[in-house]
Amino acid sequence: MIYGRKDLLDLESLDAGEITLFLDTAERFREINEREVKKVPTLRGFTVVNLFFENSTRTRISFELAEKRLSADIVNFSASTSSVAKGETLLDTAENVLAMKVDMLVMRHGASGAPHYLARNIPASVINAGDGTHEHPTQGLLDLLTMRRHLGDLAGRRVVIVGDILHSRVARSNIHGLTKLGAEVVLCGPPSLMPVAVERLGVRVEHELGAALAGADAVNILRIQRERQDSGLLPSLRAYARDWQVQPRHLEAMAPGGIVMHPGPMNRGVEIAQEVANGPRAVILDQVTNGVAVRMAVLYLLSAARRRMSAGETREEALAGELPAAEPVRAAKNTDTGLRAESA
Ligand code: NCD
Repeated sequence: MIYGRKDLLDLESLDAGEITLFLDTAERFREINEREVKKVPTLRGFTVVNLFFENSTRTRISFELAEKRLSADIVNFSASTSSVAKGETLLDTAENVLAMKVDMLVMRHGASGAPHYLARNIPASVINAGDGTHEHPTQGLLDLLTMRRHLGDLAGRRVVIVGDILHSRVARSNIHGLTKLGAEVVLCGPPSLMPVAVERLGVRVEHELGAALAGADAVNILRIQRERQDSGLLPSLRAYARDWQVQPRHLEAMAPGGIVMHPGPMNRGVEIAQEVANGPRAVILDQVTNGVAVRMAVLYLLSAARRRMSAGETREEALAGELPAAEPVRAAKNTDTGLRAESA
């Protein structure tokens, strides 16, 4: 199976097969990240621009490492140092960048839907690295990969997402990804930070933390999005911590082997207690490790789709076809060309 779309904009529009393809491919790339020489020639000749209109540490470094490990040529752009600060529109900025013959854009933007708008208007592939309060598909995929590695098949597993659901693009991508893979999703947080009628996404809402976590296989603790709050929605941070901070006692009734996740950046002592962040159930740094592999998989699968389409195949032919034998996901052994390290 191949990925037959130009872009990766959200998990809502993917089906379970596409999500699984990204996860399975990422497993292959995890292995490259363990090598001494962490580089393969897969994206040689591809140019990727990282367009970041919002702050980021983890996601940006993770994409950059993924691109470099695939041998892409990369350019970094941040809004504060660009002509956007001089009033240029998003489309003008993107078209100017594309006029320099760029194949892919990785984009983070404060406005929900900004990458979708760009994807409709430009021929380059667009990867959404977080749009407003909408989605953050690569974070969703890396969370799924982390859960799958620790828990096995996610069908029937209970995953609790705690905190500021209303403003969280991570929550939305997790909800779509998890429900498509058959997991049971429970949301927990202050009613003022819970989207109206969220149950229509196929999830359950639980307002008491202890009850929500009883029997849970995983808990994903969200950061309070202080930068996105409308006044009055969030009680004081102290009141929030008192009622909603995940503490060791909340984890006692989790399923055996249950895991604790957080997308970062963590506010220790607000949404997550120190002992939980540092505790034996925490897999927070595994998430970061998996993030690079997931982003390599996304870049690889999108580039493979581009190559096939530019080689003259229609989207239908490309969709029906198989991956070229030399490419990483088909490689049975490290000696296969696609997985060969750059100078090994
Ligand atoms: C998340 C984001 O930016 O949406 N962080 C991340 O990508 N690692 C979550 C957050 O900012 O709380």
